[in-house]
Amino acid sequence: MDRDVIVALDFSGREEVISFLDRFSGKKPFVKIGMELYYAEGPAIVKEIKERGHKIFLDLKLHDIPNTVEKAMRVLSRLNVDMVNLHAAGTTAMMEAALRGLTREDGTRPLLIAVTQLTSTDQESMEKDLLIKEPIAEVVMHYAKTAKNAGLDGVVCSPLEAAKVHEVCGKEFLTVTPGVRFAENDKGDQKRVMTPEEAKKIGSDFIVVGRPITKAADPVAAYERCIREFAE
Ligand code: C5P
Repeated sequence: MDRDVIVALDFSGREEVISFLDRFSGKKPFVKIGMELYYAEGPAIVKEIKERGHKIFLDLKLHDIPNTVEKAMRVLSRLNVDMVNLHAAGTTAMMEAALRGLTREDGTRPLLIAVTQLTSTDQESMEKDLLIKEPIAEVVMHYAKTAKNAGLDGVVCSPLEAAKVHEVCGKEFLTVTPGVRFAENDKGDQKRVMTPEEAKKIGSDFIVVGRPITKAADPVAAYERCIREFAE
């Protein structure tokens, strides 16, 4: 899949999302549906957006016993989404089960991406709450390698980690990176950010962009700017 911009549809209900997507007229951005929208509207919203012609990253971050994740992934795969994710912390057995569940009868499947350590986890909370004593950067790379060895397609990571992930796991292993801001934008609650242009330079494969597009005065222009700076 080519380098692309994924628009995070962080809205709480159908009406808001549909009126946002209507602004794009003929254009069909790759979009991300997260827990808030999915839990509010269920699979119907996924089907509706898919029918409108968008690629979909379903960001539900599964983490459970392998058997449960395999069955859940089978259901998600039938929604015809293009990308889904899970927590690498679920271990190799869970990731392999997820891949089995996702693979459709014709052999196709959505891309499967792993979350390593959430960016909300820092060294202190990892050591204190999870009893993981290694430096967090090493933990992230270890999770990325484990995901690659399990057969996954890539990881969600900070744009600052993308180059290292490619170094460790190879160029083909996808990096999906949130934390993107235009040079002149307010950073909001994202602490470690990059512009679309910088993310392109360091080799991100997909950038996930929420508020710089959804809260822009002209979301379509902001999206087109992301495409120009990152994907062209
Ligand atoms: O509005 P903003 O561009 O910060 O949105 C980024 C999107 O990426 C949100 O949907 C957020 O949940 C998601 N995300 C993130 N950082 C991560 C993982 C996911 O910002 N580490």
